[in-house]
Amino acid sequence: MYELIPIAQAPELDEEAGKRFAEEWPEFIFHDAGVKVFRDRRREFFLDWEFYLVTEERRLIAGCWGVPIAWDGTVEDLPGGFTGSLGRAVTSYEEGVVPNTFVLMAAAVRSDEQGQGHAGRVITAVRERAAAAGLDRMIAPVRPTLKSRYPLTDIGSFMSWTRSDGLPLDPWLRTHVRLGATLLAPAPVSQTMTGSVAEWEKWTGMLFPASGSYVIPDGLALLQIDRTADTGIYREPNVWMRHA
Ligand SMILES: CC(C)(COP(=O)(O)OP(=O)(O)OC[C@H]1O[C@@H](n2cnc3c(N)ncnc32)[C@H](O)[C@@H]1OP(=O)(O)O)[C@@H](O)C(=O)NCCC(=O)NCCS
Repeated sequence: MYELIPIAQAPELDEEAGKRFAEEWPEFIFHDAGVKVFRDRRREFFLDWEFYLVTEERRLIAGCWGVPIAWDGTVEDLPGGFTGSLGRAVTSYEEGVVPNTFVLMAAAVRSDEQGQGHAGRVITAVRERAAAAGLDRMIAPVRPTLKSRYPLTDIGSFMSWTRSDGLPLDPWLRTHVRLGATLLAPAPVSQTMTGSVAEWEKWTGMLFPASGSYVIPDGLALLQIDRTADTGIYREPNVWMRHA
């Protein structure tokens, strides 16, 4: 059987988790300046909201983390996305605002265990934890994994695409829907990554000889390169989902 444990209970897994889960993400994901300013406070305030899914023998299977925020339940009051949720969580904590909602920020399953329903186990277990802590709403700015094949399509259209069985075309959105989640709204600018042309070349393993728009590996949208200003900007679109 599997158990979801706070990471503080298993420091011996930190090194392995750091390696295994970092591999699951494109390098550019780690370069959102809006996230960096909150990183230390996030760890200080919300370490209890970071988990590992382990087997009985304490083999690492998956990880996830999230933050508590106050949300009035309307689409209008949703944060802008991933970075906005982090900002709201940290600021609200400092201001003493009582949270009522758990935002599931990220989940990753080790690559040799994917496709076996572990993500569902993680989501179900973390939802129970949140409810037990008095956070009776759970939302997530979901990164639709298949969107990287459709970087030209706007996120509002992409999230509406379904298969013949009526479930979302995207496998990760589909997992959430199967667990009872509903699609709330697109988050067209969930994160913003800015870097010099050289940095983008390093992060993507590509060259950008001219200014313009580029399709990049694992990018859900296009990268905009401006060689005159020596900058590249990528805006990561996500989908807001709400769990029952
Ligand atoms: C997205 C992720 C968490 C899903 O976890 P999981 O435990 O594999 O999920 P499931 O077993 O429920 O599979 C979900 C769906 O994805 C498909 N899938 C899983 N792994 C896959 C893979 N490596 N390639 C293609 N499809 C895959 C499954 O077939 C399933 O689709 P189905 O509806 O047709 O059955 C996992 O693939 C992962 O960690 N990815 C890297 C990190 C990431 O992108 N996280 C999501 C953003 S927060």
